[in-house]
Order: sequence, then C-alpha cells, then structure tokens
Amino acid sequence: MRQLFIGLALAGAALTASALAADRVTLAVDAAKAGPVIDRHIFGQFAEHLGSGIYEGVWVGRDSSIPNTRGIRNDVVAALKALKVPNVRWPGGCFADEYHWRNGIGPKRRAGRNPNWGGVVEPNTFGTHEFLDFVDQIGAEAYISANVGSGTVQEAAEWLEYMTAEQTALSDERAANGHPGPYKVAFWGIGNESWGCGGAMSAEHYLEQLKLYARFSRNYNGKQAMRQIAVGPDGAKTEYTETIMKAWSQKTWSWNIDGLSLHSYTLNGWPPKAPATGFGEEGYARFIKETLGMEDLVRTHGAIMDKYDPEKKVALVVDEWGSWLAPTPGTDPGFLMQQNSQRDAIVAALNLNIFARHADRVRMANIAQMVNVLQAMILTDKEKMLLTPTYHVFRMYVPFQDATLVPLAFEAGSYRHGAIAMPRADAIAARGRDGKLWLALTNIDPTRPLEIDLALTGLRASRASGQTLRAPKIDSVNTFAAPDTVSPKPLSATLKNGRMALTLAPQSVTVLALEP
Ligand code: AHR
Repeated sequence: MRQLFIGLALAGAALTASALAADRVTLAVDAAKAGPVIDRHIFGQFAEHLGSGIYEGVWVGRDSSIPNTRGIRNDVVAALKALKVPNVRWPGGCFADEYHWRNGIGPKRRAGRNPNWGGVVEPNTFGTHEFLDFVDQIGAEAYISANVGSGTVQEAAEWLEYMTAEQTALSDERAANGHPGPYKVAFWGIGNESWGCGGAMSAEHYLEQLKLYARFSRNYNGKQAMRQIAVGPDGAKTEYTETIMKAWSQKTWSWNIDGLSLHSYTLNGWPPKAPATGFGEEGYARFIKETLGMEDLVRTHGAIMDKYDPEKKVALVVDEWGSWLAPTPGTDPGFLMQQNSQRDAIVAALNLNIFARHADRVRMANIAQMVNVLQAMILTDKEKMLLTPTYHVFRMYVPFQDATLVPLAFEAGSYRHGAIAMPRADAIAARGRDGKLWLALTNIDPTRPLEIDLALTGLRASRASGQTLRAPKIDSVNTFAAPDTVSPKPLSATLKNGRMALTLAPQSVTVLALEP
C-alpha cells in the first residue's frame, strides 16, 4: 500500500493487476500520525481588472440598485464570507504591470484603457481604498501585486507608504481620501509573469529588478507582517526557479523573499478552446489527466527549491491555477468568461489535494479567478448571482484551512478512457482546528461508483458525516434558471471497529468528519 504523501502521479504509473481488477479501494488512515499544517492561504482567490471580474462582479457603485455596502455588492460579499477566503490577489495578472495606483485614489479618478483584456475603458473607480474595503468586508488579507513591467521602484515604494505609513505626507493624503489609519498589506507580489506579459524579461534581468523592488518596498505597518513574493516559473520551465532560488541562497542582508510564484493552468492546448460544456467523456478524461500534472510541477520546482533552500523558508506560491476554457459563446473573448461544470469541481478538489500533500512547500495558492472570470466561484448577471460547482468544493474544504495533514495510504486503482489512464480515486485526511478528523474523497471515474473501505486507527469514531458533490452529468452546470443543479448533499455512514464502507457516486467530491 502506498503512502499518499508520496504522491498521486505515481499511482497511475504503478498500477497492480489486483488494483485494476478491484472495484473497492481500501483507505488506511492512522489518525495518530501528523504531517505539516495545510496553510489556509492555499485557498486564496485572485481578482483582476478583467471582464466583469471587478466591475459588476464585485463593484456596482454606491448608487446601484443592487444592494451594496460602499459600492461593493452584498450578495457576493456574503457568499465569499462563507468560504473564509484567506487572501485575495489584486489588481492582476497582466493588468498589474500596467496599473498606476494614483489613477485609482481620491475624488477624481483618471480613466484609462485595459489593453490586455479587450481594450475597454478602465474607469479606476475601484482602486486601492475600494479593494482594501472589499477584503475587509469578506475578512480576507490583501495580496497586492506591484507594477514592475511599466512602473518604477519609486512608484511601488510610494504605494506601500501610502497604504501602510503614519505621519508622512502620503499617509496624510490617504487620510484626506477617507482612511486615517494605516491599511494592512499581508502579501506583496513583485511583478506578474515577468517572463511573459510582465515584460518578457530573462530570469537574470528580472532578478536585478527583484532585488531593487524587494529592498525598497517597505511596509510601515508594524501590526501586519508583509511577505514578499517573487515571480517564479511559467509551468514546467525551470529557468526562473533556478536563477532566483540560487541568488536567494547567496543573497546579502539587503533583500529577501518569502515566496516564489508558479503559474499553471489546465488548458488542453493554447489558445484555450476546450469547451466548458458538451465535452463528453474524452474531453473530461483529457482535462483531468492534465490537471493531475500539477503534482509533477510542484515536485519539480520543489526539488530545485530544496537544493537552495532545504529549510523550506521560501514558499512555492501557486498564485494562478485552474481551468482555462473556451469563452462562453456570445461573450467578448477578452473577458475570459466561462461556464463552470462538475468537471471543474473535480479539477478544484484534485489541485487542492495536491497542494495539501505538498503543504511543507506549497503554502499559498490563488485560483483564477474569483468572480465571472475563468474558473470562478461566482457568476453574476446584473442583480443575479449563482454559486458554481467550484464554489461548493471550496466551501466543503473550509475545515482543511490550517488543519494538520494526516498521512493515509491506498491503492488508487485506475480509470481509463481509450488510451488515457489515470488513478481512479484521490483522498486527503487532516486533523482540523476543530479537533475533528476530516477526509476529502474524490471519485475521478465518471462511469463507476467507488466503494471505499476505510480502515481507521488511532481514533475512536462511530460516525462519519458531511457532504457530497455529485452531478447528473460530467458537464452539469448551475445556471441562473437552475442554480442548484450541482450542489452539495448530506452524506453519512457508520463505523464499526474502525471500519467504514461508503459508496461514492461517479465524478464526485465528498468531505466527511469522523466523530465519536
Ligand atoms: O488570469 C488571466 C491571466 O493569465 C493573467 O492576467 C496572467 O497573469 C495570466 O497569463
């Protein structure tokens, strides 16, 4: 039996004949064992000025007939509060490297264009104060990305001073704009995709920028430690990881980073044209197979980081991940709007499991994106709002925030469609901050139910209860007309002498707490 800490990707490669034949998966959990803490920040969100992600999705303006608090829509805030969102990354994305913060403060905003995303007018009515009000309303921490591509070190330094200082000319300006006290900035991203839309810089060139920005980006708010995150690898490419981590290992006192960013989407080819619905089993299998590749990416970059940082001081921050699909027909392709199906729910669960298994290195992640863009939690249409299958997975996984990983072992079996093969099941276990033992189980196979045989040691439990997210079809979605087609249902089972039998529906995600 394989320790799941070793990783799911191995499971597909090393299938035994008995595992292929077996319909039952035995899951061994020793609750007395403990792994690393699953940092709540792996459940982070990303909100870019892109399409209707901010304007309409979050910001409707104070005068809107849509119920709002200081211009921020109340329904979206309430839905996000239930996810206990740990942090939100803003203002981009590619947008960040063309964002000039002064355009978005004060009574007179300077409109510009959003050249990356449809070339539309950017009114800058949602700026620094509005974003920091928004994260405060949902109870999250701020992760702000500085403009390295078209900005200056001085502009970035002054932005941080404006937000976090007291008794300076810039803090007086902030007070005059309505916020006398300093804001809290928990995470500071130094550029975005500097190897691509952020300036197509070589790793060496970016490194020199990074040293300057890291040195002169000062957080003046003593009540909030600020962690700095450098641009890291583009998917499997290792140049940035090697260059930055090597330099970090030899660095002087004058600069530091706490995280290295990794961006990797599940695409099935570039430009993204995999349909969000109507894809059939082949489209499902190809997509899930690709998303499972996140495990290899995390391992590859983790191994390079281990070489230069064996104490794992620098976190791998997967601050853009998720499904990137063909845009919804009839929408502006520059707005990256896509439907969200049960397949996306499986994508979300598998990636969160991978991050949790690598919790010692992956201590932060941000799904792209929060509302109306890519693999969103929430879709809106004017005053209407719906919760996507991905939202439900994030909600079901809340007990895993800051929980302690518990090792488990199982033979994952195999799911095949034609030549595409992958493990049939995935699972993680963790001891929640509530003291309960939590299990997250995914039946990847869309054709067969999965019989789980749980063998529990190290804990006396008689009952498991929680929720399961299943769907009539692999491409089932929630719509404004039918918002609950995919929604969690209660599920429970009993344990006797540490054993529990449970049947998981095809293509489903289940989260259970084990109780005395
Ligand atoms: O999330 C959409 C875009 O994808 C981001 O702006 C960019 O960083 C990435 O390429």
